[in-house]
Amino acid sequence: MKRLKIGVIGCGAIGSELARSIETRFFDKATLEAVYEIDEERAKNFVSKLKYIPQLCNLEDLVDKVDLVIEAASLTVVPEVLRLAIEKGKDILVLSVGGLFGQEELMKEAEAKGVQIHIPSGAIGGMDAVKAAHIGGIKSIQLETIKPPMSYDGAPYVINEGIDLSKIDKETVLFEGSAEEAIKGFPRNINVSAILSFCGLGQKKTKVKIVASPDTKWNSHEVTLEGTFGRFKARADNLPLESNPKTSALSPLSAIALLRQILSNFKVGS
Ligand SMILES: NC(=O)c1ccc[n+]([C@@H]2O[C@H](COP(=O)([O-])OP(=O)(O)OC[C@H]3O[C@@H](n4cnc5c(N)ncnc54)[C@H](O)[C@@H]3O)[C@@H](O)[C@H]2O)c1
Repeated sequence: MKRLKIGVIGCGAIGSELARSIETRFFDKATLEAVYEIDEERAKNFVSKLKYIPQLCNLEDLVDKVDLVIEAASLTVVPEVLRLAIEKGKDILVLSVGGLFGQEELMKEAEAKGVQIHIPSGAIGGMDAVKAAHIGGIKSIQLETIKPPMSYDGAPYVINEGIDLSKIDKETVLFEGSAEEAIKGFPRNINVSAILSFCGLGQKKTKVKIVASPDTKWNSHEVTLEGTFGRFKARADNLPLESNPKTSALSPLSAIALLRQILSNFKVGS
């Protein structure tokens, strides 16, 4: 069987886990062909630890060389990755999901060209139920995210509002609004709201509450949904990843699970 050639953009917490899993779990079905990382030192250091060394290249060359492009870098790179994937007819797996907000035209173009856009469920459970509920009709959908205060360090909303995270000594609601606004204010923290939007009512009608709690060690995400079928609630309490505490432990695992599904003929779950 021909092995799927994969390129990974960004070898931080998630990209490096994915790259390692291609080598250890999926070696009979896939190869890590190329890596693009803005931080050259990090890239060299990372690939030197792999058994089969992929090529380090620029974004365009990476898309050229592979069958599947995995983006695990940043929201800002997503439109360019999507544009190149469409131009070169390559499938993509996107981690910085909020980067697809506002790219509806490109997404239509991708569909017309048969370019597959894969999005893992991330650090949240129950996306199969949300998609099923959406078929029947969703009346309301909300995400509540609770993390330790310093997880939100550097978020544009925190900076603009002048919030001193180090002074938060009790559970505090930082933000309430739509998924669209949440991604603008917390681009590194709330990709789950974008995933939820794409499964259900979209970025304007998906409500998001972001809470900072000094009493938690978890990155918790809870989805509450009312639909024509009934009610649904799902909660995931994630440990933060050591390599990047802003990222939850289930996120790389869910991306690896999606990659396994892409590479398999046996697909379970909606
Ligand atoms: N969908 C999900 O479930 C989920 C969960 C957590 C994080 N994320 C998102 O996935 C992405 C990766 O997360 P992470 O925890 O691995 O982050 P990270 O900061 O650990 O790693 C990101 C890597 O990408 C590199 N990078 C940044 N901009 C780049 C660019 N323009 N071109 C090439 N390389 C670039 C950085 O140097 C870094 O090495 C982030 O955008 C993050 O917000 C998604």
